[in-house]
Amino acid sequence: MADRYDLNDAAVIQDPFPLLAEMRRDAPVHWNHAVKGWFVTRYHDVRMVMRDPRFSVEKMAPFAGHANPSIQHKIGFLADVLGGWMVFMDPPGHTRLREVLQSAFMPRTLAQLRPRVVAVANDLLDAVGGRTQIDLIAEYAYPLPATVIGDLCGVPREKTGQFKSWANDIGAFVLQGRDAPDKHTRTTRALRECVDYYHELVAEHRRHPRDDLTSLMIDGGGTSHRLSDDEIVSTLVLLLFAGHETTTNLIANGMLALLRHPEQMALLDADRSLIPSAVEEFLRFEGPVSTIVRIAAQDIEIGGQTIKAGERVFASLEAAGRDSDIFTDPDRVDITRRRNAHIAFGKGIHLCIGAPLARLEGQVAFEALLNRYCDFQLQAPAPDWRDELITRGLNTLPISFCHRGQGPSDDI
Ligand code: HEM
Repeated sequence: MADRYDLNDAAVIQDPFPLLAEMRRDAPVHWNHAVKGWFVTRYHDVRMVMRDPRFSVEKMAPFAGHANPSIQHKIGFLADVLGGWMVFMDPPGHTRLREVLQSAFMPRTLAQLRPRVVAVANDLLDAVGGRTQIDLIAEYAYPLPATVIGDLCGVPREKTGQFKSWANDIGAFVLQGRDAPDKHTRTTRALRECVDYYHELVAEHRRHPRDDLTSLMIDGGGTSHRLSDDEIVSTLVLLLFAGHETTTNLIANGMLALLRHPEQMALLDADRSLIPSAVEEFLRFEGPVSTIVRIAAQDIEIGGQTIKAGERVFASLEAAGRDSDIFTDPDRVDITRRRNAHIAFGKGIHLCIGAPLARLEGQVAFEALLNRYCDFQLQAPAPDWRDELITRGLNTLPISFCHRGQGPSDDI
């Protein structure tokens, strides 16, 4: 079984769906040697893992406790900063941080942000000029969400480039990069730089409050909670991290789905009112987050298997998105799909707080691209997927296109 379900196999990293289908059918809940934990693939089981309070997200303390003594000194700092992320906290710590941030991420608050997101998308496409070929990730799918989240947190634009290398280095550890031998050193170095930078940013905001997320957190976001500087800094690092790579993947994976299904591209081009349902379909079909991780806080039974207290569970969002018990013809991209109950943003108390922002960015990104260009083609023999267990994203997405022959438009 160990070899049959090898999630580290190079071919599986490039296309995990045949293996996930086999697991869903034959071993929906099984101990997976490749990830050293239980692997769960059916929609209902995945949803249950995310909603059941008997599963904990507090991975950092046990991780630090079990780490090899030779890396303990690095792990302590890592566990302190990452242990302050709400996504790695159970209630009541989680509840307090989430309440502070909640008001900033209400769909109504975010709707007001739309013109700024449109402006960022158009600026990036203006920079393409007359070229007809770009790496969509480097020039658009990455900088768009990175700039938006940077603006929201009050980070100057010139820092956006620096964020990419910090986020990559932090990701080597958090996203369980499998080919990252030096990941603890890289992550610790990047985290130190990032934390130092954010402490300065918080101090500056305490002196000169602004209308942004950093000042909102200092003020408690309309609640009576008062966060320490360390809590605010940890949350800023989380937002930097959660707020852009995921959305980069949404834009790039969505574009790849359209390139591989030209009839869907034509449909979207002919009817822009399909953009919201197309974005939901991209999230279901090949979503940005492939797996979420939990630890059993007590013995729990799922799918006839007993998970023992302390064991890790990997719940596969990408397998759940292709479950034919839930979705009709799940391996087909259908941007008109109705009742698309995907769980790409999670479920339960950790449901993605940034989902309304990600949806807004995804919708604006496709609308701006389609307004400017047509005849999109993939300029690579095969997609180049990143070797990460937790997210599903491409390293690069070289594409070509024709200009529609209009000047830059601000009217989307
Ligand atoms: C398409 C893009 C995105 C996807 C697919 C996505 C997916 C997810 C998922 C699956 C979770 C739950 C993790 C778990 O249960 O362990 C989550 C949590 C979270 N996401 Fe997102 N995310 C996206 C974009 C964003 C953005 C833009 C932001 C912020 C600006 C953000 C901030 C967060 C935060 C702070 C949490 C933790 C929430 C909590 O623990 O209560 N995400 N996201």
